[in-house]
Formats: sequence, structure tokens, C-alpha cells
Amino acid sequence: MRKTLALLVTLCSLATIAHAGEVEVLHYWTSGGEAAALDVLKQQMADDGHQWKDFVIAGGGGANAMAELQSRVLKARPPTAAQIKGLDIQRWARLGFLANLNDIAQADQWDKNLPKVVADAMKHKGKYVAVPVNVHRTNWLWVNKPLLDSLNLAVPTTWDEFDSAAAVIQQAGYQVIAQGNQAWQHATLFEAVALSIGGPDYYRRAFVQHEFSAMKSTTTEAVFKRYYRLLAWMDLNEVDLEWSQATQAVIDGRAAFQFMGDWAKGEFIKAGKVANRDYMCVAVPGTANEFIFNIDSFAIFNLRDNNAANLEAQRDLVKNVMSASFQRTFNLNKGSIPARTDLSAAGFDLCAKYSMSEFLIANEQQALLPSIAHGMATTGTVQSYFYDRINELTAKPLSPKESSMALAKAIRYGQYILK
Ligand code: BGC
Repeated sequence: MRKTLALLVTLCSLATIAHAGEVEVLHYWTSGGEAAALDVLKQQMADDGHQWKDFVIAGGGGANAMAELQSRVLKARPPTAAQIKGLDIQRWARLGFLANLNDIAQADQWDKNLPKVVADAMKHKGKYVAVPVNVHRTNWLWVNKPLLDSLNLAVPTTWDEFDSAAAVIQQAGYQVIAQGNQAWQHATLFEAVALSIGGPDYYRRAFVQHEFSAMKSTTTEAVFKRYYRLLAWMDLNEVDLEWSQATQAVIDGRAAFQFMGDWAKGEFIKAGKVANRDYMCVAVPGTANEFIFNIDSFAIFNLRDNNAANLEAQRDLVKNVMSASFQRTFNLNKGSIPARTDLSAAGFDLCAKYSMSEFLIANEQQALLPSIAHGMATTGTVQSYFYDRINELTAKPLSPKESSMALAKAIRYGQYILK
């Protein structure tokens, strides 16, 4: 009996070794919350007997990672999968670098289990070429609740309320808004302000369809007016403050607010903080029931070496990402909500449940909008012109009229570069 058991154990481990492949995964998830979330996938791959090779390029927003990916692919050494989003997925697919995942997608009913907006972003010419891990919302305001309570302040829901609260917070010696001096952080705030001031139709016309008359308009001037007003409540002298360090300032009660996508919630969770007791997650003033989305996904590359074990590992990676257990545990850590809509919301915290309901409401009201700051609305090229101009205007504000013209021209220029 003992001998049979030993033989069985040996056979089983031989089977695992025979199937053990390697995946190399490019990503930029290096903060505490991000790393904890990714560990869920690493563990699932290890449980399947595969090796994980981390291809990590730090830098919030992912611009550094995208540059590195380009150079690796040009050297004909693409990774197994890379954290690529939105329109950039289309670009890599058009160039023929991405694998067709339709057989897995059909077997697992992706079309049925994913919202259309998510499924569309993962497909190129009807073929799935990427697998979604989540849906982030970018128009959030994160609030240190005990700090506001101690100053007898309510959470602001309008810009006037925000300014009144800000004056009290500053007077009391606290930092009002925690924000790092990085282009993508400014762009994230700017798009939320644009939605708040202009509304969904304006946002769509200016930042998705890039209509010149919407980009250069009195509405964009009003957006800049509000954006410049907010800069007065920040201290941008700390060069290169990472977004997660800014979140830490809110967690510690050194600052009252941060405008940031819900990856910030991953840091609150990692620090053991509880929603509505230690912190609040609310829509950026004027954007309740509206949702700027940012979907994280892994684009799956055609492997160069035809190694059967590695191909199998790649397929296991895709299946793991779409599994109910991954979508749940990853998103509990990451701060986002699952990309799949067929999962129960039980066990998710208040912010996630709020986000799920905002997603549905926004979807019904044509207020579900792709993020320009995070590559969902436009290509990486237009996005980088947008970043550069917002960054310059943040450092040296022009009049709202001149700013609106400068931004419109930058976006238009980015579009021409592509042609
Ligand atoms: C990504 C998030 C990431 C954040 C900060 C966003 O563009 O979608 O997954 O946590 O950048 O790096």
C-alpha cells in the first residue's frame, strides 16, 4: 500500500513537472496594495506548477513600462503577457503581436460574463487578444474622515463646499490635497474636473472624439479655472511624490484629500483602514452617477519559441485571470471591481459596492466614459501630448482661454502624428 502511494505521488509530481511552464509578465504594480493584488495571480500560477518571471518596470500610470515593452518586442523577445490597456491593445494587435484567445473565451462564455464596454476593449476585429482583470474608476475623492470630523467639516459634494472646507483645513495647519508632481497624476485630476464642469457629453466630444470646437471652448476655459483653483490647495514642491506616498499622507492624517483612481483604496486596505470609519470614498464633486473607467488587462503575446509547456502556462494564466476566485481576491486587494458582472458582491467593501452601482447607473445614463489619462479614450501618442501639456500648464498656468487653446492644439497635434 505504502509503495503504491509513493508511486502515485511520484507520478503526480512528474505530471506537474511535465506541464510546468514559465510565464514572463510585464507590469508596473509596485505599491503595497498593487503588489498584494498581483500576488494572488502569482500564487495561482505556482499552484498550477508554473514559474513566474516578474518583468516589473516601476512608475505609476505605466508610461515607463510601455517604453520598455516596445524595446523588448523590437528585440523579438516579447513577454508572455503585458499589462496594456485600452487603445494600445488595438495597436499591438494590429501589428500582429497578440494571440487569439477566442477558444478559451467561448468555452468560458466571456461575451456573456463581461460588460460590453469591457469585452470590446479586449477584442481586435472580433478576436479576444487580452484578458481583463478589473474595472477602476478614476473620478474619486479620498477623504481622511477623522480629520474632517475633528474640524467639524462635512464631506464636500460641490466645489463651493470644497473651497470652504479647504480654507478651514489649511488654517488648521494640514495639507488640503495630497498630490505628487507627476504628469499622469495631474492628468487624472484634470479629467475628473473636466467631467465635473462639462458633463458627460462635453467630456465625450472633447476627450474621446476630440472635436476641436469642444476642446477649445468656453467650457474648457471653465475647467481650467477650476483646475487652477485646486492647485492652490496643493504643495507640488515635493518632486516625484508617488501617488501611493500621497495616499499615505491621507492615511496618516497629514492631508485631508486625494483625487485619485481607486487603486488608492488598495493602500487604505493594506494599512488596515476601514471605509466610512477611517476614510471615505466619494465621487469628485459634481460627478455622482458618472464613471470614468480604466480597465486593467493583460494583453497576451504570440510566443516565439513554440515551447508546449510555456504555451500551456500562458493559457493557464488567461484562465486564472478570468476565474471567479482571482477576480474576487485580486480586486479586494487592488481597490477596483471585478471585470466579470456575474459574480456576487458579497464580501466586497462599501466603496466597491458603491462603485458597482455607479457603474450600472452611469452605463444606463450614457455617463460611462473612458479615461483619457489612463489610455482608455485615446492612443498612447495622444495621451502623451495631453500629459505634457497639462504638466506644463500645471507648472506655469496661462489664462483659461490660452490654456484651452494650448490643450486643444496639443491633442490635435498628437492625432496628426499618428496619421
Ligand atoms: C493602472 C492601475 C495602477 C495605477 C497606478 C493605472 O494606470 O490602471 O492599475 O494601479 O495606474 O500605477
